[in-house]
Amino acid sequence: MKNLNLPTLKLDNNPDSHFESPFIEKNGLLEFNPELIKPEFLTNWTFETKLYGEIVSVDHFVITFPDRDALENYAESCRPFGAKTIEGPDLFPINFCVENVNVPSDLWLHLMTLLMPAGGLVVLDAPHAVGDQTHRFQQARGLTAVHHVALRVENVQEAAKIWQTKNFKPLSKRPLDAGTLTQWFLENPAGQIIELIERHPGNNATFDCKNIAGLRLSEDEGRREKEEGRRKKEEGRRKQVLNCPLK
Ligand SMILES: [Fe+2]
Repeated sequence: MKNLNLPTLKLDNNPDSHFESPFIEKNGLLEFNPELIKPEFLTNWTFETKLYGEIVSVDHFVITFPDRDALENYAESCRPFGAKTIEGPDLFPINFCVENVNVPSDLWLHLMTLLMPAGGLVVLDAPHAVGDQTHRFQQARGLTAVHHVALRVENVQEAAKIWQTKNFKPLSKRPLDAGTLTQWFLENPAGQIIELIERHPGNNATFDCKNIAGLRLSEDEGRREKEEGRRKKEEGRRKQVLNCPLK
């Protein structure tokens, strides 16, 4: 994990200054405006915007590419504008962190992180194999889909209360605490994931592979819980039918 001394993004509370955003909201899901994820824009962007009616400070977000070459070409085109590579490109998790070798290969991906001049991070990912989770995500939602966007907050628990009123539900029972960062992944009924990230004072480390593993595993946990809920409902319905005196 690297300590980058990332600046705390200062929110300008004048909403008029947040017009431009790479994100477009469509039926609860986020998509990128292709024009505004070009290196010329992102390397000059403040990382402040409005999402779901809330003025937010964006910590990082993920852009997905069809393959590693496309990912590296994009990174290369950001470099002349002052973007710095801080992680990767490499295969996550096996070439990142020894502690995450137990992550199932379905969740492996090519990963690279760029630090933009404003202090925000842009994560680039690409499938590592046809049919893996990242590939399926691209097939389902296309290359302009926003897998997740992380919002830099002062207190994850407090911020989560606000996002729960916007119908975002936590994917895990409690926030993930990597010791230096606290993070919590939430999802709305449309399936959009946001991450709340609290950088502990004095430690501005970038997110590490534990966090991504946390998200991937949280997604799985969330899906499993939903699946279990659906199964129980279905069972309840079957019992009702079996017990129905009119059958
Ligand atoms: Fe993240």
